[in-house]
Amino acid sequence: MGKRNFRIWRGDETGGDLNDYQVEVNEGEVVLDVIHRLQATEAPDLACRWNCKAGKCGSCSMEINGKPRLGCMTRMSTFEETETVTVTPLRTFPVIRDLVTDVSFNYQKARETPAFEPPADLAPGEYRMKQVDVERSQEFRKCIECFLCQNVCHVVRDHEENKAAFSGPRFFIRAAELDMHPLDARTDRKEHAQESMGLGYCNITKCCTEVCPEHITITDNAIIPMKERVVDRKYDPLVWLGRKIFRRDQLADGATDTTVGSVHTAELDGVNWGRPKPTPQAASVNADGTLGITEITFDRPAAASPFGDDQEFPLDPEGLNYHRPKS
Ligand code: SF4
Ligand code: SF4
Ligand code: FES
Repeated sequence: MGKRNFRIWRGDETGGDLNDYQVEVNEGEVVLDVIHRLQATEAPDLACRWNCKAGKCGSCSMEINGKPRLGCMTRMSTFEETETVTVTPLRTFPVIRDLVTDVSFNYQKARETPAFEPPADLAPGEYRMKQVDVERSQEFRKCIECFLCQNVCHVVRDHEENKAAFSGPRFFIRAAELDMHPLDARTDRKEHAQESMGLGYCNITKCCTEVCPEHITITDNAIIPMKERVVDRKYDPLVWLGRKIFRRDQLADGATDTTVGSVHTAELDGVNWGRPKPTPQAASVNADGTLGITEITFDRPAAASPFGDDQEFPLDPEGLNYHRPKS
């Protein structure tokens, strides 16, 4: 196929620039092949993370012509021969060097997501599930943790300030998967997603679904059902009445929040749910009456981590607030 034009971002946390290269491209090659050829020839110090070259490890996430993609699954044949292919690191995460970013935000959010809680009356080996229940969450288990969905989500892409309060689509599918799990003993997945994972920040733009290399229908199958269940619970008139009547008993000592559901508060002793929720600000309206932005903005971060305001991550495993199976 001959030589093709590439522009690749080179730099580190102190700054960088796009560098131009002309690289030999052969039939059937993908962008990661070209990066490997560059490393083998004129740019041996070009940093790029990869492992499987088969679209399964989720390591080679990058932005190719501005789109979040896996380098190993993006065929060169999808570009025009005369097109310059621009490769940049994921924009949402801090750059370490060249195409390698620090994705530890996602590991922090994984730690904050309560783990599967096995049923108390069953021993390991006695768990049984119907095939239909297995199939419901099978889709979410395909996630390869490439974090392309996290990278594209506008809630955090250009809003560093939202990161503390927003777990992102990858962890919304985890919450939904556990909420649909017939053996998970926790009943507060929805409330946790809403109060502590920032589910309410998502305005279902579906960008995460568009970029997912595993074709997980993140928005329609996980986020929207979770949002609907939160609304069902929160605005159910009987639940509302019950909350009014029983609130005094259900709030943890010293807690003042009037928005937290009863099951949630009662089950998580010691978790500080008692902080005020963020309040949405009115969206700005242009002179012609159109909305200038589609995002809802908040005057302060959403519900803080259940681990407390002053907690540094990564957490000591002993400090995690998860219900763990007894060994
Ligand atoms: S649908 Fe929600 S989670 Fe997905 S990219 Fe849009 S705002 Fe983010
Ligand atoms: S949900 Fe899809 S895009 Fe997001 S991390 Fe998993 S595989 Fe990647
Ligand atoms: S190298 Fe594993 S997904 Fe690309």
